[in-house]
Amino acid sequence: MSEFSLIAPDDWHLHVRDGDLLSTVINHTAHTFKRAVIMPNLNPPVTTVTRALQYRDEILAAVDEQYEFQPLMSLYLTDNTTEADVTEAAAHPSIIGFKLYPSGATTNSDAGVTRISSLMGVLEKMAELGVVLQIHGEVTDPHVDIFDREAVFIDQVLDPIHRELPELKIVLEHITTSHGIDFVNSATRHVGGTLTAHHLLYNRNELFRGGLRPHYYCLPVLKREEHRRALVEAAISGSDRFFLGTDSAPHTQHAKESACGCAGCYTAHAGLELYARAFEHMEALSKLEHFASIAGPKFYGLPVNKTRITLKQEAWQVPSHFATAQGEHIIPLLADESMVWRATRS
Ligand code: NCD
Ligand code: ZN
Repeated sequence: MSEFSLIAPDDWHLHVRDGDLLSTVINHTAHTFKRAVIMPNLNPPVTTVTRALQYRDEILAAVDEQYEFQPLMSLYLTDNTTEADVTEAAAHPSIIGFKLYPSGATTNSDAGVTRISSLMGVLEKMAELGVVLQIHGEVTDPHVDIFDREAVFIDQVLDPIHRELPELKIVLEHITTSHGIDFVNSATRHVGGTLTAHHLLYNRNELFRGGLRPHYYCLPVLKREEHRRALVEAAISGSDRFFLGTDSAPHTQHAKESACGCAGCYTAHAGLELYARAFEHMEALSKLEHFASIAGPKFYGLPVNKTRITLKQEAWQVPSHFATAQGEHIIPLLADESMVWRATRS
């Protein structure tokens, strides 16, 4: 198979930042994806409907005219989010969820939730109105080993929420362990999960291959090979529960290559192609369409896209960097390396 077409895909978990970074990255996504769920962890975070709609306009203004791209907004859940906020958000079709960041779990999460148990009224309202709770599933207790934080979160936080509110639609974002996969598979149909291309392609050895490699550092951090395999099996299974979410998370080169570098891999430049690489390794390219273009809309109750995209076998080299207008550099995953698949709109 040297070329095949699929229903145009969507990215169910994406960071596009704002200002200079936004205009540098957004068209990489718009080239391939029709819709993307935009993460709200700006500084300050996107916590209100007014700000989300304004941010959506900023994104649309940065999208090249040739693309038809729809940002789907997520609001940042805080200790101060109210039921009225949920009701207001639910009235806007372009706002589709609230993102739960346990306070301190990742980039710009200081304003995140400190005690989820005090937000049960808000979560009940979300369940009632069909608003999706998107979760960064890691505990932040520094005494918990960083490689165990997802499993502990599932046991201590996620499982109790799901038991109490089985009707609440939950997406466990960027699953990195077999525990995450098992949780989603054993939960009600209201629970799904996104998988990133980098977690499908790499295990934690990649972080230390011949030296410390900051561009492979993201949160949740890459895990052992056995976990990577569980993620790949889920992605190619044809299940409606697992769908594409790149978690492309641009940072400037100096913020990544630093004594205390930021978490986040920039992958939007090859958003679909990196998944094609992972699926091809498993001889499962025929399963890519379900994962990238069908399972996500099904979960969110949205129509699948009407247009198609073609993936061609065509060697190309990933650029060494992308420069912002102000001269900052973003280093993409697989910088200077060659790719086999290329997406073109058809
Ligand atoms: C994300 C970011 O940089 O915003 N970083 C990351 O490593 N994935 C935040 C997140 O999704 O955790
Ligand atoms: Zn993310």
